[in-house]
Amino acid sequence: MTIPDKNTLFPLENYDRLCFLKNIIKNPNIVVGDYTYYDDFEDVANFEKNVKYHFDFVGDQLIIGKFCMIASGVTFIMNGANHLSKSISAYPFAIFGKDWQHAMDGKTYPTKGNTVIGNDVWIGFNATIMPGINIGDGAIIASNATVTKDVPPYAVVGGNPAKVIRKRFSDVDITKLLELKWWNWPIEKITANVQHLTGEHLDSLK
Ligand SMILES: CC(C)(COP(=O)(O)OP(=O)(O)OC[C@H]1O[C@@H](n2cnc3c(N)ncnc32)[C@H](O)[C@@H]1OP(=O)(O)O)[C@@H](O)C(=O)NCCC(=O)NCCS
Repeated sequence: MTIPDKNTLFPLENYDRLCFLKNIIKNPNIVVGDYTYYDDFEDVANFEKNVKYHFDFVGDQLIIGKFCMIASGVTFIMNGANHLSKSISAYPFAIFGKDWQHAMDGKTYPTKGNTVIGNDVWIGFNATIMPGINIGDGAIIASNATVTKDVPPYAVVGGNPAKVIRKRFSDVDITKLLELKWWNWPIEKITANVQHLTGEHLDSLK
């Protein structure tokens, strides 16, 4: 049995626009699972550039599961992007100092927590994921979607704000898939099942 190596940076021969993502990540607040890949028209280093407003002092994390497929131009907006929105003005006076330096005393910028992407999630070209979003296992995010609410497992969502277009499977099959969690199987078992994983019959998985 020969199996693609999850620790390879560029798993396609003579092609450096697609990488196994975890191998290029430098920021400890971005955590990526095995075999999740990122494809970029220009340079795979654009991935971290497209995780926007991600500041150490906020400390929020972008957590991405295994076997996800992330297309060029996908952008994650993190909590550092947030201004006050319930105040009279959203203007960040305090950051400019001088006699404005105390404007934020006793207040905090709103935060929505970590962004968590499940396993086997396909995120289409140019999609934008807002702060604190959870995307369930097996979901598909349509190209150009702006995801503003959590996405249920195995839902296909699209548009701005992204809405459910359809479910990929019946509720019964989705429950079975979420119990199976095939992405956590030993890689040898996944390898033995790749024909079935790319087929449409759940009962054929061995
Ligand atoms: C989401 C997607 C997979 C849906 O494909 P599909 O199941 O064949 O869906 P259809 O084309 O039959 O469209 C189904 C509905 O979704 C809508 N839809 C499709 N793509 C959409 C998009 N990007 N944004 C908003 N709505 C979309 C269609 O208008 C249609 O709406 P209707 O039911 O009201 O008529 C596909 O449109 C998509 O965006 N793929 C991502 C491609 C990509 O970015 N690849 C990057 C390389 S990995």
